[in-house]
Parts: sequence; structure tokens; C-alpha cells
Amino acid sequence: MIKDRETILIIDFGAQYIQLIARRVREANVYSEIHSHKITLEEVKRINPVGIILSGGPMSIYDDGAPNINHEILKLGIPVLGICYGLQLICKAFEGEVEPAKNREYGKAVLGISEKSKLFNNVIDNSIVWMSHGDYVTKLPQGFKVIAKSDHSPICAISNEQKNISGVQFHPEVLHTQEGTKIIHNFLFDICKCKGDWTPHNFIDQNIAAIKNTSGNSKVICALSGGVDSTVAAVLVKKAIGDNLICVHIDTGLMRKDESKKIGKLFEEKLNLNHIHIDASEKFLKKLAGVTDPEKKRKIIGNTFIEVFEEEAKKHDDVKFLVQGTLYPDVIESTSFKGASVTIKTHHNVGGLPEKMNLKLIEPFRELFKDEVRNVGRELNIPEEFIERHPFPGPGLAVRILGEITKEKLDILREADDIFINEIKDANLYNKIWQAFAVLLPIQSVGVMGDFRTYDNVLALRAVTSVDGMTADWFRFDNDFLANLSSKIINKVRGVNRVVYDISSKPPSTIEWE
Ligand code: XMP
Repeated sequence: MIKDRETILIIDFGAQYIQLIARRVREANVYSEIHSHKITLEEVKRINPVGIILSGGPMSIYDDGAPNINHEILKLGIPVLGICYGLQLICKAFEGEVEPAKNREYGKAVLGISEKSKLFNNVIDNSIVWMSHGDYVTKLPQGFKVIAKSDHSPICAISNEQKNISGVQFHPEVLHTQEGTKIIHNFLFDICKCKGDWTPHNFIDQNIAAIKNTSGNSKVICALSGGVDSTVAAVLVKKAIGDNLICVHIDTGLMRKDESKKIGKLFEEKLNLNHIHIDASEKFLKKLAGVTDPEKKRKIIGNTFIEVFEEEAKKHDDVKFLVQGTLYPDVIESTSFKGASVTIKTHHNVGGLPEKMNLKLIEPFRELFKDEVRNVGRELNIPEEFIERHPFPGPGLAVRILGEITKEKLDILREADDIFINEIKDANLYNKIWQAFAVLLPIQSVGVMGDFRTYDNVLALRAVTSVDGMTADWFRFDNDFLANLSSKIINKVRGVNRVVYDISSKPPSTIEWE
């Protein structure tokens, strides 16, 4: 969508750290894009990158079916940095040799700089680098020099300054590599001559122009869930096209305590987002009655959402576009080396609508990571308290009530969840936790309250730390905090007589229970 943007092209050979490479480049205010190694020469020319990074990968370059690229890409005169497998690929392309190492090198190594180079300009000698490889370079490719070695890799980094091609055996993108940031900066600014002008401010300016250009005078519709992505997207689109944006908020009845009311107020008073509020809670509850299968619940919610939204959209003439808060990890998932993975859970969004209603998509964040969307939100003056909100799943509390959903269960869960989150905020832990919530289990247990026997629900609490939700660890609360919390919930919430804390990581568990 954005023309003539300074771009670093990252070519993926199946690296575990691929997103990390993209982030390190972007943290230096240079836009980066990840593409599969199957990218064609024409596509590279079209992107017109200022530099190319070849990623690591799990295979050996001599393996059957080892990923390769069109070697013409390396001859375009665009600066190249190869990392691990990327270095070995450069060797293969320029007649060097790579062999399996006798001692595989995983973890720490010391980088001995052996010759001056742009890549290692001002990099301290004998710094710690992070290795993860089973092959190493045994013969230098033609026209290259060795610029660093390590104990087990006599050819640990190479460069050809005429061709502007360098390669390193270690991983500069991981934080354990002490001088990693400097090395990446040297590549970006000394070798590729980047300007480093990719900031939230410029992103907003460029996207406002692009959105105006795309939508013309047509109407654009947006489903405001109250989540960070859709809200920031709506504020941005509103800035671009003003009243041509129609915002719709659907209260599914599956939201947290007072949530629909609170976000409505925020939209109107702080964000100048007037919107159509639809209370569809009864419809959702009716359709969910008697359903216990998690995937069925998700599908019903997704379809009902589309139905309600479509009904509203039809009332407005001239709607041609739908705003979606799609993020970059969703895009990479379908285009990178690994390809689409199996569906663990069907994610709910307004997918399906665009084809049905013949709407085109406006997805301003297709190229951003979550934390970058947050920075754009800050630049758009969205209150910090909102920006830092924990993620909340589209199907809402429906995936946190195991078994059948009823109004009564929803009310119990809303009360308990509210106490949990408030206690976390009071203890100043909210921003240390990636996501926290309560789950109502379909189990009753015996308790004693005063002189009475109770037979009530069990509530599970879940709090995790994570970077992107792909992996997660359970948060270590202080025991006294948990003890207090448990008695507060049991005393205040009628219908709960037992609280348990979830101590599973992801994998093998998931964050949500359904
Ligand atoms: P899981 O449970 O798969 O969740 O480990 C990872 C993250 O995704 C959120 N999540 C969803 N978000 N629609 C969403 O928009 C969904 O259907 C959905 N399911 C899970 C979950 O809350 C966690 O942050």
C-alpha cells in the first residue's frame, strides 16, 4: 500500500527467530518484511529493498530439499547479510564450502575479530555471541575475507565489501549476543545507508494518505470490539476519512463486567468515535443455549456476529470497505516458510463478511506487530490505560465458561473476574502480566460456609507472562496474594465455593481453556 518506503527484505529459511530479526530492524526505525525463500527475482525487484537479510534455518544446505533462493537475487547489487544458514547459502552461491561440524556449537561463543570491516565497526573484540548450528564454513567463497572467528568456527564471519555481502555464523538478533544490536545497526546504517525514518508518526501520515486514496468517497464500516487493534485502526481511519467511517459496536452479552458501557463512553468522550451500539446479547444467548462443544460455540458466535453486523451494514448505502485489525503475525503465518499450521482453535473475527457482502478490506496493521500497534495508538493519543489492556478473545467469556453458557453463569464469572483484575491492578501487577482472567468450571464441589454445607462452582484463575501469546508461562503470584484473593472471591461471589490457580504453561496447554 505504501510506495517508495525504505525496506529491508528478510528471506526466511525456516528460522526459529525470524520475527525477532524483523523486530530488531524495526526497532532501529527501518521497515522490514519477511518473505519465503521462494520469493522470485521480479518480486524482489518490485519491493526494491535497501538491504536483504538471509535468515537461519533448521536444515543443512546440502540436505535433500534444503531451501534455496534464486542466486540472481544476490547479484542485484543490494547489500546482503546472511545469518547462520544464510551465511552458508552465500558460501554455496559463491563457491565456498560448508561441512558438518565435529563439535556442534549451541549457545555462547566468543567472537574474535580478525580484520577491519564495516559490519563490525566499533564492535568490541571478544564479545559473547549466540550460536546455534551444526555446519560450518570450511572454504572461503571467492572474493570474500574472514572478518571474525570463534573457537569452533575459524570462519565465523565473512565479507566482500565490493559486493556489499557479509555473513555471520552466530545470531546477532538474539539478546544474548552482546554486540548484536550494534552489528545490525552497522548493517542498516553503514552498509545499507538507511535513513531510519520509519516511526509511528510517519506510519500514521503515510497510512492516512493511503487510506484516503483507497477509499475515495465511499463509506467504510468498522466493527469496534473494544480491543486495542480494532480501536486503534478505527481512530486512524477516522482521522483519514472523517464521517465516511461508520463504527458499529455489538454487545454480544459475552463481555466482562460493564465493559460495553465503559468502552462506549471511551469511544464517545475520549476518541471522538461516534458509533452505533447494538445490544444483541439475547440473540447470542439463545443461539448458544444447550451447546457445550468449544468449536461449535466459537462457530455459532462467529456466525451470529456476522449476521448481526451484516443486518446493520445493509442499512447504509455506499459501504464498500470493511476495516480489520489484522496483524503481521497472522500474515506471516500464511506466507512464510512454515506455511499455515493446523487449527488449534477457530479464531473469531468478521471473516466471511467481505465475500458475502462484496466488501473490500482496509487492514492498516497488516504490517505491524502488536507492540507497534500500541505505539501507533500512543501517537494517536489513545489513553495509556486502554493501550495497555490485556488481550481479550473475540468469543469473550464464552470460552471461559466450560460447558453450556447461561446468563447466570456469565454473571458469576463477570463478578469473579472483576475482583481478580482489580486485585491485580491494586497490587501494581497488571502491566507485569500479559493476560489474566477467571474461568468458570463445569464442576461443583462441596464446601462449608458457617454451619451450612454448600455444593457450588469451582473457579479457576489464570495469569500468564508472554511476548506474543504464542508461548506463555504462568505468573508466580505471592502466596499471600492468592490466599487473600481466594477468600475475597468466595466471600463475595455467590455461587463459587472453591478457587484454583492454573499452573500450566503454553505449550502444552493453551492460554484460554477452550
Ligand atoms: P490460546 O488460548 O490459543 O490464546 O493460547 C492465545 C491468545 O489468543 C487469544 N484468543 C483469541 N483472540 N479470538 C481472538 O481474537 C479468538 O477466538 C481467540 N481465542 C484465543 C487468547 O485470549 C490469547 O490472548
